[in-house]
Amino acid sequence: MNDRPKIFLTRELPPESMNQLRANSILTMNTEDRVLGKKEIVEGVQGVDGLLCLLNDTIDDEILAANPSLRVVANFAVGFNNIDLAAATRRGIAVTNTPGVLTDTTADMAFALLMSAARRIVEGDTFMRTGRWEGWGPLQFLGGDVTGATLGLIGMGRIGRAMVPRAKGFNMDVIYWNRTRLSSEEESDLGVSYAEMDEVLRGSDYVSIHVALNDQTRHLIGRDQLSLMKPTSCIVNTSRGAVIDEKALFAALKERMIAVAALDVYENEPAVEPELLKLPNAVLAPHLGSATMGTRTKMGNMAVANCLAACHGQRPPNLVNDEVFDGA
Ligand code: GLV
Repeated sequence: MNDRPKIFLTRELPPESMNQLRANSILTMNTEDRVLGKKEIVEGVQGVDGLLCLLNDTIDDEILAANPSLRVVANFAVGFNNIDLAAATRRGIAVTNTPGVLTDTTADMAFALLMSAARRIVEGDTFMRTGRWEGWGPLQFLGGDVTGATLGLIGMGRIGRAMVPRAKGFNMDVIYWNRTRLSSEEESDLGVSYAEMDEVLRGSDYVSIHVALNDQTRHLIGRDQLSLMKPTSCIVNTSRGAVIDEKALFAALKERMIAVAALDVYENEPAVEPELLKLPNAVLAPHLGSATMGTRTKMGNMAVANCLAACHGQRPPNLVNDEVFDGA
């Protein structure tokens, strides 16, 4: 193999990461600003050592099978539900992600969504732009208080934990549910209390979702769970859309079973439940959780480092399927 491995990139990354890729690999890439189709990815991976892809590229077994010498699929994301991990592992292909560097940026986004939903900023903005404002009114756009309210976190990994100091800054009580309960030291250091998921849903004014999407968490929140929430409550989702049953969420919002939802992620991105778009009590962002230049650059550099390491036969720093290097 040439010193510089061959890498296929499915879409342009921030400039610093592009420079690193160009300097250290023989790069082929999609130069258009769009998601590639499966056939194009299959063509792209022919003869390369590494594939550097995005969270909206579905990397299934057919793509993995298209190049028997593929060594790595480096995802430009912390989530990797877009990759058939079992198939990659079976084929001895390393899969990597970009954990850690987007934690604060994503927690900032979740909190921004929470605040905009609570204080009805998007509704107010639309009202202004459509020329309907006729002056201040005592009962106009009354929202919910954030200060002193209870925040319920579903999922207490890196991003869930990063929500805690933000919430404490607003004097919120924080309760959480996680598949594995934190130690009592961690709970007291963070100042959070554990409760069963139903209790978190019942007791919170704001519920924010921070679990990874997998077979256990798909539709973790459906009608039954939404029906436990307070009618004045708000649900925020910056994790993956399919953790919430979007149809059930739409019905709950329409029936005012809950007051408002603030979403950054959708079940079938980029498609959105069309009825959701018509509801005033939903704040909708286009998957912007990690979208700052600083964070995207760190993610890009991390994905490039992972991809290059695996192409050179070294264990990549953010390997997801350890078995590939450790042996099953
Ligand atoms: C963003 O959604 C990510 O998984 O990095």
